[in-house]
Amino acid sequence: MPAVLQHRAGCRGNVLIGPEQIDLIIDTDPGADDVVALLFALASPDEFNVRALTTVAGNVRLDKTSRNARLAREWAGREDVPVYAGAPKPMMRTPIYAEDIHGKEGLSGVAVYEPKAGLAEANAIDYLIDTLMAATPRSITLAILGPQTNLALALIQQPGIVQGIKEVVIMGGAHFNGGNITPVAEFNVFADPHAAEVVLKSGLKLIYLSLDATHKILTSDERLKQIAALNNRASKLVVDILNDYIKADMEHYDIPGGPVHDAAVIAWLLRPQLFSGREVNVVIDSREGPTFGQTIVDWHDRLKAPRNAFWVNDGDAQGFFDLLTERLGRLK
Ligand code: BDR
Ligand code: CA
Repeated sequence: MPAVLQHRAGCRGNVLIGPEQIDLIIDTDPGADDVVALLFALASPDEFNVRALTTVAGNVRLDKTSRNARLAREWAGREDVPVYAGAPKPMMRTPIYAEDIHGKEGLSGVAVYEPKAGLAEANAIDYLIDTLMAATPRSITLAILGPQTNLALALIQQPGIVQGIKEVVIMGGAHFNGGNITPVAEFNVFADPHAAEVVLKSGLKLIYLSLDATHKILTSDERLKQIAALNNRASKLVVDILNDYIKADMEHYDIPGGPVHDAAVIAWLLRPQLFSGREVNVVIDSREGPTFGQTIVDWHDRLKAPRNAFWVNDGDAQGFFDLLTERLGRLK
């Protein structure tokens, strides 16, 4: 299909954009699997027009997630993509981090350093408001790879931003699998359940890539060898990052490989046919107590309540790793 010229609000003049290209903002808290997801997305310019990366506190503090997002951008050779730093803490709850899984710097297994290019000047929440208010109706996809604080704050400040959003694809939640931070809660939702509630109540089209799916898409020696065989810088980084990152989950769950959660969001956007799920009603529990941060999914429609999200619960693991490998092969 031929590329077409479109005029986008907020851009000077016309830009070349393919007819099926996704106008994408990635909100992220890198994080080992976030970095893999960012490399994956930034290696796919035919499908994604990545407008910006917005960062949030999550796996580690905001200064570190923002640095790691800039590192991922540098490693992908995509310093053209701006990085905006957003919320330094969750909306209401005490901040929690995942240094035990991602290391003190939020990224282990590779050398972490100050990237050449800095942050964009604006705050991520202002950037989201300005961009989404000016956007063509329902034109921008948001991929959220961390706590949903930035989008929730933007929605509270300017509810009109929903006009610019096509859909929101979220890595978060757990139903059949059980949680990874408490017996019932998944880290991203647990880290800011109040934000997840605001997003859920916005009426936006939401897709949840839950632990139910990501825990079925595990690394294996073969799959890591397949990436390593690319023998470029990106593949070496990904293999080194994953070898370190998967250790904790493999040990904790006694499984033969580890999940690469956030990268599933990018795979979903590129090849939704690799996944399956259903429209459901989801409720977030933000009450203090043992179910804090739980996503309650009415899989069998017992309540006949409005379906407010598409819940992805399964995925083609080999298809995922083949696609990731192919894309990493496009980087240096
Ligand atoms: C999610 O939690 C974070 O630690 C990962 O980056 C991922 O986004 C998985 O529960
Ligand atoms: Ca993440």
